[in-house]
Amino acid sequence: MGNCRGMITLDRVTKYYEEAGTRRLVLDHISAEFGCGEFIVLLGKSGSGKSTLLNLIGGLDTPTSGEVLIDGQSLTRMNDHQRTVFRRQHFGFVFQAFNLIPTLTVEENVMLPAELAGARLSTSSIRQHARDLLASVGLLERANTFPDRLSGGEQQRVAIARALANDPLVVLADEPTGNLDAETGKRVLDLLDQLTRQAGKNLVMVTHSEEVIGIADRVLRLRDGRLAMS
Ligand SMILES: Nc1ncnc2c1ncn2[C@@H]1O[C@H](COP(=O)(O)OP(=O)(O)OP(=O)(O)O)[C@@H](O)[C@H]1O
Ligand SMILES: [Mg+2]
Repeated sequence: MGNCRGMITLDRVTKYYEEAGTRRLVLDHISAEFGCGEFIVLLGKSGSGKSTLLNLIGGLDTPTSGEVLIDGQSLTRMNDHQRTVFRRQHFGFVFQAFNLIPTLTVEENVMLPAELAGARLSTSSIRQHARDLLASVGLLERANTFPDRLSGGEQQRVAIARALANDPLVVLADEPTGNLDAETGKRVLDLLDQLTRQAGKNLVMVTHSEEVIGIADRVLRLRDGRLAMS
């Protein structure tokens, strides 16, 4: 792809956690490369390191050794400030617990990433973009509502709009349907798939839902610290 900018490179990514003087190996020299516009699913047993790997890809954490590169830029070599700036500009996150800010309206929640990314845009154009995104997840009429008035599925659709608000290179989703019933989960999943595909973005999703496997481009399994394609 000529304008492929969301390439993810994992180069011998290793993560140890230190606890009470002992080191536990969670990720063991993981190397992989993902192109653009791919829907990648990460499977594995509880405790296998899925969230750890997702957080490393998203720059929320750093590996013990090895390197994570996005679009050829090493997250690992950045200092904390540089990584935070990069994260705000280039990643969208969707979490199991929605993580909307309760004191902000739905619309303000979706506006936040663009404001944090320091986009040189007027408030009114950021607001318009947020409203367009809310329309795309079917929630424009709830723009001025506070998140606690929404159902779980609605909150997650707001979180999807928010994840796309800074026009990210990569969208990362950690069990986005984990708190939803099966039918609502399916809707949220389809929406996430459709919107990221439309925008040609990489979507990396951690899930236990076997249903996702059918619509993903790549299915990866974490086991004993290693990543297996399946
Ligand atoms: N901050 C931390 N300090 C110490 N150990 C940690 C820390 N974070 C995670 N771990 C350990 O690393 C391992 C992998 O955790 P991780 O959260 O990545 O698993 P997971 O595959 O996402 O599991 P789940 O499906 O239950 O969410 C677990 O054994 C966990 O206890
Ligand atoms: Mg997890």
